[in-house]
Amino acid sequence: MLSKDIEKVLVSPTEIQSIVKRLGETLTDDYKDKFPLVIGLLKGCVPFMADLLKELDFPLEIDYMNVSSYHGGVESTGDVKIIMDVGTPVKNRHVLIAEDIVDSGRTIRAVAELLHYRGAKEVKIVTLLDKPTGRIVEMTPEYVGVNIPNAFVVGYGLDYEEKYRNLPYVGTLKPQIYSKIKE
Ligand code: PRP
Repeated sequence: MLSKDIEKVLVSPTEIQSIVKRLGETLTDDYKDKFPLVIGLLKGCVPFMADLLKELDFPLEIDYMNVSSYHGGVESTGDVKIIMDVGTPVKNRHVLIAEDIVDSGRTIRAVAELLHYRGAKEVKIVTLLDKPTGRIVEMTPEYVGVNIPNAFVVGYGLDYEEKYRNLPYVGTLKPQIYSKIKE
């Protein structure tokens, strides 16, 4: 039913599975002695973080932040808003932020700056998707699942007007879906 709105599948469930496994192995090597705090950025991180955590074979803590910059549309507004702050103190912690996508880089840059300001020992980013052509601020995530072209994508956590997050893959929407004139 949801699939009828999708123009093209960019990252299939099988590809996602092997990306997550590869990231899990790398992160296990890098973090096994660090007891990191893994902070998922809601809401988009949910499917990716749930799958990734199962591949991390070392002690860690989990927490979440809800930060929003899109407010429902297809383009970042540049206004990064904290909707729900992280509850765990980050001072002196190795923090790993889990994201679904880095696009303009504004969200992750704002969050990383805030966590550094609060005294985190280290802040690194793991993202399923990276869209380097969308970058407005300088930001290079340390762990990237896959680079994607400059297209608006939905699925596996990513939404358009809060829909499509529950698709098991990442794809582009048919143009008529987001070019509809709103009443
Ligand atoms: C999306 C996505 C990233 C951010 C990336 O979140 O989940 O957090 O935008 O874009 P940027 O690199 O241009 O800042 P959004 O603000 O839409 O919130 P959501 O996760 O609740 O969908």
